[in-house]
Amino acid sequence: MTLKQIIEDAEQRGIALGHFNISEFVALKAILEGASQLNVPIIIGVSEGEREFIGIKETVALVRAFREEYSVPIFLNADHTHSLEAVEEVAKAGFDAVLFDASKEPLEKNIKLTKEAVLRAKILNPNILVEGEIGYIGASSKILQELPKDISLEEKDLPTAEEVAEFVQKTKVDLLAPAVGNIHGILANIPNPRLNIKKVREMKQAAKIPLVLHGGSGIADDDFRVAIKAGISTIHINTEIRVAWRKGVEMGLKRNRDEVAPYKILSSALEGIKEIVLNRLRIFNGL
Ligand code: G3H
Ligand code: ZN
Repeated sequence: MTLKQIIEDAEQRGIALGHFNISEFVALKAILEGASQLNVPIIIGVSEGEREFIGIKETVALVRAFREEYSVPIFLNADHTHSLEAVEEVAKAGFDAVLFDASKEPLEKNIKLTKEAVLRAKILNPNILVEGEIGYIGASSKILQELPKDISLEEKDLPTAEEVAEFVQKTKVDLLAPAVGNIHGILANIPNPRLNIKKVREMKQAAKIPLVLHGGSGIADDDFRVAIKAGISTIHINTEIRVAWRKGVEMGLKRNRDEVAPYKILSSALEGIKEIVLNRLRIFNGL
């Protein structure tokens, strides 16, 4: 099945696909082990910085190699891509999907750029799925000391149904990531904001295409369940993976101060990430 078919299938079954970001091999292996254990499809995401670190061709090759090893469907998304040139680069490289993110721009400019991104990506690969983003939810997958500036969080600042409909009609995106009370990153001292489920429902009706929920780290379990029922069919998690990676590496280093074998030190990171992935995938897939 193609990614498009798998997302449509998830929509019909009232479940969501898990999208997890990676910067290196340990997280990739942990995520795929988790997906394989539960026998569910999975999307691997690499933002511009993440894929620059691994290498674009190397990321594609790694995912291809794992597809031969695992029986679950594995897809690759070029997450948060900010330039049209970068869209073309990943479309040529063989990514299954790309998120063109001009969400910080005013709506008209966001529409103009995203429309161009869709055209350029589809010329190079008619099967690639292009996602657009509307409403700004911050840019960093990290522990936040305070809410990011200029984000759309209050209901009055979230995109309206009319704006969503206009965005989808004019850009022709396949998937839409709207701001619905979600933020990128985890707040250090207080829980992350709750999702605005009424807006999810409203935007799903207006968009009439699959909705993607970004900023999944720190979202309450029940909010995920209700948001999926309201129309979310893919959910992105990154900060929780990064936190588990760091904790695992620190634990591995502390366990034996003389240890120098990376695969022994990194085993705690792999286990920690896998635990997060299993937990999230169970919720997303209603298991
Ligand atoms: O695209 C990546 C996600 O939106 C990750 O957000 O770091 O808050 O989980 P997060
Ligand atoms: Zn995101």
